[in-house]
Amino acid sequence: MRRCGIVLAGGTGTRLHPLTVAVSKQLMPVFDKPMIYYPLSVLMLAGIRDMLVITTPGEQPAFRRLLGDGSQWGLSISYASQPEPEGLAQALLIGADFLDGGASALILGDNLFYGANLPVLLKTASARPEGATLFACRVKNPSLYGVVSLDASGRPTAIEEKPARPKSPFAVTGLYFYDHRAVEFAAGLSPSPRGELEITDLNREYLEAGALTVDVLGRGHAWLDTGTHDSLLDAAMFVRIIEERQGLKVCCPEEIAWRQGYIADGDLEALAAPLRHGGYGDYLLSLLSEGRGQ
Ligand code: G1P
Repeated sequence: MRRCGIVLAGGTGTRLHPLTVAVSKQLMPVFDKPMIYYPLSVLMLAGIRDMLVITTPGEQPAFRRLLGDGSQWGLSISYASQPEPEGLAQALLIGADFLDGGASALILGDNLFYGANLPVLLKTASARPEGATLFACRVKNPSLYGVVSLDASGRPTAIEEKPARPKSPFAVTGLYFYDHRAVEFAAGLSPSPRGELEITDLNREYLEAGALTVDVLGRGHAWLDTGTHDSLLDAAMFVRIIEERQGLKVCCPEEIAWRQGYIADGDLEALAAPLRHGGYGDYLLSLLSEGRGQ
């Protein structure tokens, strides 16, 4: 089954001003990589190679400079614009031609995921031909997020956007797997009181159609967002701690491309060459000497 990825990297990032006055939020550093490398890596780990990156019109050239057409990582990356921040569900409408009636995986450009069996969870969700899959994660402050209620067997019973009195501690993370119906459902939505096409309203359509699966990311998983100065620093510190301890990078697209066999040894070597000054390139070269099995 063909499933395309959409990375939504629009928005004005006002909560991060003045950082994001001149530079897109999703290009901000999260320790040693631009933020968008993290969601892009998640789509790669799900086995998705055909992706659409949605940006504001003004910031698109910078994303193109960073990611190109994706061929350097064995991917195909296209671009589209979201002129105004009119909601996450609008990504499906902007991406309708790109999806061409197929299934999708939408990820928010500021979400970071980390955990042992994540690739397995992602590939399982991606292989489900029908319905939608969301990932829920327990948080201390659910009222800042979409919140999903689950019954005793883990089936979703309700989903609400930023409820004042959350019925569950499970936030809906910014990663959504949809079947072909998502575009049609998104087209039927009306803007919420804040003037946006809400992703939670789209997800509720799947819930009401009895076609929503929710996978809970348990204790062994980290889900971080990076929308405030504090959470951006927390995410950077998290990545630094893991990387410094293990000597392995988190969400390194060059490494994932190579491990998944999208690029050959010589390609990785070529990618490493211009990156040697800061150590990132040396890391890529060290992978070659250890071999793919490590
Ligand atoms: C959005 C969604 C929310 C989701 C969150 C995940 O919220 O509306 O349902 O839980 O992303 O990051 P935002 O923070 O963009 O307002």
